[in-house]
Amino acid sequence: MKVLLTGANGYIGRRLKQTLLKQNLSLRLLVRNPKSLEPEPDVQIVQGDTFDTESLDIALEGIDTAYYLIHSLQSNDYQDLDRLSAQNFLDAAIRQGVKRIIYLGGLGIKETSSKHLQSRIETGEILSSRPKEIQTVWIRAGVIIGSGSASFEILRHLTEKLPIMVTPKWVKTLAQPIGVDDVISYLDTSKDLDIDQNVIVDIGSKKMTYKEMMLSCAKVLRLRRWIFPLPVLTIRLSSYWLNFFTPVPYSVARSLIEGLSSEVVVQNDNAQKYFEHIHPISFESAVTKAIQEIEQNQVFSRWSDSGGKHDMWEKQHKDDPSSSVLLDRQSMPIGDIPRETIYRTFCSIGGKEGWFGYDWLWEVRGWIDKMLGGAGLNRGRRDSHHLRVGESVDFWRVEDLEVNERLLLYAQMKVPGKAWLEFKIKEDELVQTAYFYPKGLWGRLYWHLLTPIHYLVFRNMIRSILQKANAHKGLNHAT
Ligand SMILES: NC(=O)c1ccc[n+]([C@@H]2O[C@H](COP(=O)([O-])OP(=O)(O)OC[C@H]3O[C@@H](n4cnc5c(N)ncnc54)[C@H](OP(=O)(O)O)[C@@H]3O)[C@@H](O)[C@H]2O)c1
Repeated sequence: MKVLLTGANGYIGRRLKQTLLKQNLSLRLLVRNPKSLEPEPDVQIVQGDTFDTESLDIALEGIDTAYYLIHSLQSNDYQDLDRLSAQNFLDAAIRQGVKRIIYLGGLGIKETSSKHLQSRIETGEILSSRPKEIQTVWIRAGVIIGSGSASFEILRHLTEKLPIMVTPKWVKTLAQPIGVDDVISYLDTSKDLDIDQNVIVDIGSKKMTYKEMMLSCAKVLRLRRWIFPLPVLTIRLSSYWLNFFTPVPYSVARSLIEGLSSEVVVQNDNAQKYFEHIHPISFESAVTKAIQEIEQNQVFSRWSDSGGKHDMWEKQHKDDPSSSVLLDRQSMPIGDIPRETIYRTFCSIGGKEGWFGYDWLWEVRGWIDKMLGGAGLNRGRRDSHHLRVGESVDFWRVEDLEVNERLLLYAQMKVPGKAWLEFKIKEDELVQTAYFYPKGLWGRLYWHLLTPIHYLVFRNMIRSILQKANAHKGLNHAT
């Protein structure tokens, strides 16, 4: 069987890829930024975009089954984009003679759902709209519980940070959560289903309210929590509340909150009918597993790790090669410290390791970012040793990695312009550069106002990296 996996660097896609890799099939991956995937033997990576029909034809050529794990939630006009994306994909799949599309969408009823869930339903309707030419297996899941999933991260952060919660009414809404491993099992098995018509499969474990989920999460974390629902909290206030206490930025919080007022429960029994061997684990077991993975540094994918469709560095230079850049460059000799040790040291930046000094200033910047609706520092790191292109590190995103040479971080915090932080090992020195492409007068003012702080922070940063690397030289790190 020849299988195409789209969204292969997304939260679900990365996990499904691992399962498919263990099987005897020919696997092709479609991604917008190929740097975001490590090459795998016998796996073809195609660079493409669902808005580029030529690339879709190339990706779908000769394919039997195609997974559609794509959404444009990060754009303001995601409803239109998602409709077009699904239509392009369907048309190309039919042109190329694909036999089956497998799509994972959200639970919900169109009439009462939020804009976000309606868009997921519309995507499913488009993909299923030509059953005589192509068959679609449309899996619908509600809250997915797994390490790194947005829903779980929100539940965990709220439960860990707030002993007493005065919450909006939506905590009483019913949902049907499901563990991420079960979702992967349904998706994986869907390719082998012996059916010849379209099917919609609603999946979930036991029905629960969000309040029950938070209390259950607290129980697993061995915390005592008190929740008091109040009828007066608006969507906007709830979204600020989530933005402030959890890693999600305001825009994501708002879409999620809008969805919480309507029930997301299973509407059909096709899961039992077609997948009788899958028995979803309980909410508590899914939470326990997710927490174990976090504690053991084994988070495989996170909600915040996709969305790096462009190499922003390349795009900046292509779009505006003449723009003036403000920079802070520091360099120091590396002496006898091995390159690998220095590389490993600067790649440990962020998360629990901090920012090589003045961490309180980074914390302050994180809070300012949160107040502006950004991601802040709460996202941390997926893994304390490894980095992958495209993934988030606090309020940065890894833009480029060259082993034993370079780490380039792109700033996703709210800044009046575009910013990068680069660590580069040249012959005998470490060069650390903060680049800033200001937007307008305020951008320039912002940079100049921060010059004294940058002076302290960046000068100290390179020194600390080299000191730490020096202390670790000769030690055989686990990488
Ligand atoms: N995660 C959940 O909790 C959850 C719950 C219920 C249902 N679902 C459904 O599961 C599916 C996958 O969700 P996810 O959480 O894995 O999403 P995700 O992590 O945000 O990944 C989305 C993927 O789509 C890709 N993409 C976006 N626009 C594209 C385009 N125009 N062309 C090609 N690729 C594009 C992104 O690539 P870039 O890196 O290039 O942006 C990324 O790989 C979605 O349909 C979602 O509704 C998810």
